[in-house]
Amino acid sequence: MNYDYLILGSGIAGLYAALLAAQHGRTAVVTKGPIEESNTKYAQGGIAAAVGPGDSVTAHRNDTLAAGAGLCDPAAVDVLVREAPDRIRRLTELGVPFDSEEGQVALGREGAHSRARILHAGGDRTGDAIETVMVRRVREAGVEVFDRHAVTELRTRDGRVTGVEALDPTGRPVLFQATRTILATGGAGQLYTLTTNPSVATGDGVALAWRAGAVVRDMEFVQFHPTALALPGVPTFLLTEALRGEGAILRTPAGAGGGGRAFMPNYHPLGDLAPRDVVARAIATEMRRSGSDHVLLDITHADPDFIAARFPGVHQHCLRYELDITRAPAPVAPAAHYFMGGVYTDHWGRTTLPGLYACGEVASTGVHGANRLASNSLLETVVFAQRAVEASQRGDAPAAPPPDTTPLALPRLTAAPDRATLQSLLWSQAGIVRDPQGLADAAATIDAWGAPSAGVEGATLANMALVGRLIVQAASRRTESRGAHYRSDAPESDPNWRRHLSFVRPDPQ
Ligand code: SIN
Repeated sequence: MNYDYLILGSGIAGLYAALLAAQHGRTAVVTKGPIEESNTKYAQGGIAAAVGPGDSVTAHRNDTLAAGAGLCDPAAVDVLVREAPDRIRRLTELGVPFDSEEGQVALGREGAHSRARILHAGGDRTGDAIETVMVRRVREAGVEVFDRHAVTELRTRDGRVTGVEALDPTGRPVLFQATRTILATGGAGQLYTLTTNPSVATGDGVALAWRAGAVVRDMEFVQFHPTALALPGVPTFLLTEALRGEGAILRTPAGAGGGGRAFMPNYHPLGDLAPRDVVARAIATEMRRSGSDHVLLDITHADPDFIAARFPGVHQHCLRYELDITRAPAPVAPAAHYFMGGVYTDHWGRTTLPGLYACGEVASTGVHGANRLASNSLLETVVFAQRAVEASQRGDAPAAPPPDTTPLALPRLTAAPDRATLQSLLWSQAGIVRDPQGLADAAATIDAWGAPSAGVEGATLANMALVGRLIVQAASRRTESRGAHYRSDAPESDPNWRRHLSFVRPDPQ
């Protein structure tokens, strides 16, 4: 099968890219699960853009840079915030039903944003609303969709990416050839025991690109969302930061020597709306202090009708487990949520390999630095998907490797024995708080694992082990704390470490 564009992944990044690519030639989307299954579908908060009265791209820029803890690429951030209003207009034209209030777009507030600037749809069902529209548009545009196809390898010729090998739903190998391949495979939250991500988020894109010889960057920066539902026996579920934007308060768990105490003001001047890494660590500290596996998120003081209307997804989900958040605080704990790092790209979505582009969570564009500002991720997908397609129309030049790139030889191809083993290893040794011994143990454990087995799960476990190993390697090298990377042996930021860690395989396939 020969295509002008092959798009890997079907969240907003992939589908937005596919829609644009289809204007230029034969386009296919290849995606591991059902088409709509992606991190996008589960996004609750929304999409950030300086479109409200009293807001400005400068304010959005400054908030993004501050959250990024010194590692954002300011030029990439400029692109992000400047192009945001146009991309929002386009999403609206495509049919995304952003919520409004008295004829104006409704804007929510989230942590570390100095203004209310988060557009949402269906209250807290923003991602689902966007995904539904994008799936419909992609089908209308005649894009060919190969769902339940797991890509196992990027094919290269003379260093150029020329397509992919995949396993079809029956496990049969299939070959797709393409002039241009766009990676939009999303994140890797499944590498951790607790995650807000669906089961398809296994870091496949980073692993595929790494094996083909692309540069990866910032792998140590894994964002833990502070507030995932922590009810015993109930799957982890995101409780959007927009709840705190509407006044929800984090409190110590009941019975823990003064339970019910609001604790965030002790940790940061912005209190419950402090940057995500600060809130996640504060919660971890309070959980350790109290010996509890959760803290409480309390919005019982708000008008119940407002909560039910503004947060229908969260409200109804919790009701299923007999928790009414309008009447009782929700038990919450941090969970792996977002990967700031990934496959390095320039400002045009170009990776260091000719023929290969990347956008969305799989990419490291430089807009998130060491800690992503809430709701900048959906925005990043559309800004850089568009740029990737535009750049691919202009020519073929790949990105130059960043100057800090170092070759990294990893011992050999290993695969996790099963997901739970890898998840618990990374959760305990490369999670919210890291130390040198734990990281060294994690590296040794992964290196000792055996070779992958055949089939989709075997390939996935190999991808997960590889991405986990890259996280551990970067986290070991960065002997400081910055943004989402926290080392208990080096709890402060070190100005000498205001730089990236970029790795490339010395011997690509
Ligand atoms: C949330 O709704 O809290 C998540 C938003 C995000 O991760 O950007």
